[in-house]
Amino acid sequence: MIIKGNLIDCTDTGTIRIREKSCILLKDKVIFKIYQENMLPSSYKDEKIVDYKDALIFPGLTDMHLHAPQFSFRGLGMDMELLDWLNTYTFPEEAKYKDMDYAKKAYTRFVNSLKKSFTTRAIIFATLHKDATILLMDMLEKSGLRCFVGKVNMDRNSTENLIESTEESVGATNEWLNFCKNRYKNTYPIITPRFIPSCSDKLLKELGKIRGCEYGLQSHLSENPKEVEWVKELCPDSKGYLDAYDKRDCLNQSRFSTVMAHCVYSDEAEMKLLKERDVFVAHCPQSNICLSSGIAPVRKFIDMGIKVGFGSDIAAGYSLNIFNQAVEAIGLSKLYWRYIDKNSRPLELAEVFAMATRVAGSYFGKVGALEEGFEADMSVVDDRVLNDGIDDIKKRVERFLYLSDECSLLAKYVAGEQII
Ligand code: GUN
Ligand code: FE
Repeated sequence: MIIKGNLIDCTDTGTIRIREKSCILLKDKVIFKIYQENMLPSSYKDEKIVDYKDALIFPGLTDMHLHAPQFSFRGLGMDMELLDWLNTYTFPEEAKYKDMDYAKKAYTRFVNSLKKSFTTRAIIFATLHKDATILLMDMLEKSGLRCFVGKVNMDRNSTENLIESTEESVGATNEWLNFCKNRYKNTYPIITPRFIPSCSDKLLKELGKIRGCEYGLQSHLSENPKEVEWVKELCPDSKGYLDAYDKRDCLNQSRFSTVMAHCVYSDEAEMKLLKERDVFVAHCPQSNICLSSGIAPVRKFIDMGIKVGFGSDIAAGYSLNIFNQAVEAIGLSKLYWRYIDKNSRPLELAEVFAMATRVAGSYFGKVGALEEGFEADMSVVDDRVLNDGIDDIKKRVERFLYLSDECSLLAKYVAGEQII
C-alpha cells in the first residue's frame, strides 16, 4: 500500500524535515520506501494508493507517562500540591477500580479518547487492581494502540481501601505477569512501583527481582519538594531519591529500560546516575505547572545525553495531546532560563518535536520517524481551517505544532494498521 501526502518528521540530527507531496510505501508494519510523488517507480503503479492530497502526515507520538484511571477527573482539583492531591482526589478515585463495572465504563472512555489523540504509543499506570489492569490491557490491545501497562504496587502510606500487603502485592504481580504471557501481541506489562513513599524496601527489592532482565520499570522521581524530603526520611541509607531506587535493586539492566516521570529536583549526582543506569526521563510540563511542582532542568538532561520524552501525566496534566506538552515544555524552559539559569538555553521547536516523536518512540524500537525501516505510525492531519490563507508549508507546520487542537485528525496508523 502507498500513502500520499506532505510528510513532516524529525531527522536523526534533530531538524524538522518537510517532504511535500511524497509517497510512503508500506510493507507489513514497516515503512519500506519513501519517494517524491513524481519519482515513484512505474513498478508500483498497480499498488493501492491512499491519497491524502494536501494533508500533513506526522509520525505517531509517544506518551511516556500517564495514569489511565485518573482520566475520569482530569481538569478537576488542580488546587493542591502533589501529596495532598494524591490523598484528596487521586487515591479515592483509584480505589473505585476494584469495581469492574466502574472500571469498564471509565476505561472505555479513556481508551476511546487515547485512540482519537495523536498518540500511537504510551506507557501507562493502571491501579493496584489486577483484574481491572487486565481489563485495561484487553481494551488497549483491541484498540490497535501499542502500550506498556503497569499494575501499580503500593504497600504503605495509602488509604485503607487502596493498599496491599507486601505479600499480596508481590503475589498479584506474579499472577498478573503469568496471565499476560501469550495473551497479548501489542500490549506489554511493565513493573510499576508507584513511588518510594508507597512501597516498602522489601517490596521494591522483590519487584527488582521480578523485573530481572525481562521487564521495564516505571515510577515517579523527584517531583515535589515535600515528596523529596519525605524520601530522604524514609531512606536514610541513600544519597538521593534515584539512589534509593538503585539501592533497592530497581534499576538493574534489563531488555527494557527504566522510565522515571518528572525529575524536577534531580541534582548533578542524580543526573549522573540517570545517565549511568540508562533511565528515560518522562518530562511532564503541564503536570508540573498544575501541581505547582516546579521546572525540570531539561536542557541539562539533554546536554548530559539523558533521553527525555514527554508524559501527559493525566490527571495531574489535563490534556492527552502530546503536542501541547511539547509546547508547554518550551514555555517552561524559557522561564527556567529567565529566572533560574542564564546558561540553560531554552528548548527549541525542533528539539521538542524530536522528543515527542523519535526520542520517546525509541523506547518501542524503531518508532517515531517517517523513515525507511521504521514502524509505520502516522497521524494524518487536516489543517485547512487552522491555516486558511497560509501557503508556506513551513509556517503551516510551525503553527500546527502550537495549535494542533484546532486541526482534525483524518486518519491514524499504528505499525501500518489504520485504527481511525
Ligand atoms: N506520585 C505518586 N503517584 C503519583 C500520581 O498518581 N501522579 C503524580 N503526578 N505523581 C505521583
Ligand atoms: Fe504520574
